[in-house]
Amino acid sequence: MTVGIALVGLGDIALGAHLPALLRNPEVEVAALVDPDAGRRALAAGRTSAPAFAEVAEVLDDPRVRGVVLATPPWVTTELIGRVAATGRFVLAEKPVATSLKAAKPLAELPADQRERVQVGLTYRHDPALELLRDWLAAGRLGESLLVRAHIYDERRDPGDPAHAERIEETLRHGLPVIHEGAHVFDWFSFLFGGPPDEVADGWALATRPGLAAPNLCGARLVYPHRTVVLAEFGWLTDALPRCELSFLGDRAHVLLDGHTFRMELTTVDGVEQVAFEPDRTTRCFDRQLARFVELVTGARAAPAPDLADGLAALELAERVAALAGGGAR
Ligand SMILES: NC(=O)c1ccc[n+]([C@@H]2O[C@H](COP(=O)([O-])OP(=O)(O)OC[C@H]3O[C@@H](n4cnc5c(N)ncnc54)[C@H](O)[C@@H]3O)[C@@H](O)[C@H]2O)c1
Repeated sequence: MTVGIALVGLGDIALGAHLPALLRNPEVEVAALVDPDAGRRALAAGRTSAPAFAEVAEVLDDPRVRGVVLATPPWVTTELIGRVAATGRFVLAEKPVATSLKAAKPLAELPADQRERVQVGLTYRHDPALELLRDWLAAGRLGESLLVRAHIYDERRDPGDPAHAERIEETLRHGLPVIHEGAHVFDWFSFLFGGPPDEVADGWALATRPGLAAPNLCGARLVYPHRTVVLAEFGWLTDALPRCELSFLGDRAHVLLDGHTFRMELTTVDGVEQVAFEPDRTTRCFDRQLARFVELVTGARAAPAPDLADGLAALELAERVAALAGGGAR
């Protein structure tokens, strides 16, 4: 018996990662595709024989659809989560689940039986590299108090791809880069350090050129338990970007985590250890995320992980940083 899943929103992440994962999973049948943009529907049509619709309403009375993957922009996702969960279906919703905590209010008020059917697409916490790093931290392999530097740089402005720059500039209208990227990164820290920071000590934001809807660079200093200090930076839309990487420095070791591949380099007095998992990060994380969602739909898993509370916690922290940095979500 396969599980019927509809893919709603056929943009970059849907066609680049969700649809391939759905097609790879032998337990899944892609039951429907939804996007108001006919061009996106046409792009998806060549990849599967599933019927494509312009409106999510058109799949919500199809009994074959037991789960829905929402790969929509965050200003659309919020309302869709409630609408789909209210029909008794399971939802895997892309992060962030809203553009602000205020916009997320309906989600915080969802009835418990609906919340229990919502898994949030904080995809990379499923990565075995993060699980291994968490084990190292818990075992004290690095030391107790750490200095963590998170340099989260993405979405380079490519002069050859003005449509991409335009789309990211539009996203900037809905909040600083930390609102969009922070959802993942603060979830990694919550996963690694076992909960939220004790304090967001300060924040900053900077626009590298006039005319942007919000600053394209921002950052913050956060203090986690055991006096671990995190210096986090987020940046988009410059012609060149620094490396995207995270570094964890403790009394006994240093770990460098590549922000795109999650390859790790652990340096101790005993030498340097390289750790890399197969296949590539996108494939392994989207596959593991989907496997857990299928377990939720079939009842093999009792509760979603990560759940709506995790998604809202990451959003709350990202918003606190954005407010402190002086360029909150509009
Ligand atoms: N988990 C990850 O690693 C990851 C990576 C990239 C993006 N994302 C998140 O995924 C979401 C989508 O990102 P993207 O880069 O694919 O964006 P995108 O703009 O390329 O795609 C969004 C798609 O949703 C469609 N859409 C809009 N309103 C809709 C509606 N009411 N019903 C159905 N479809 C609708 C749009 O037409 C578009 O095709 C964002 O929230 C983003 O933050 C997650």
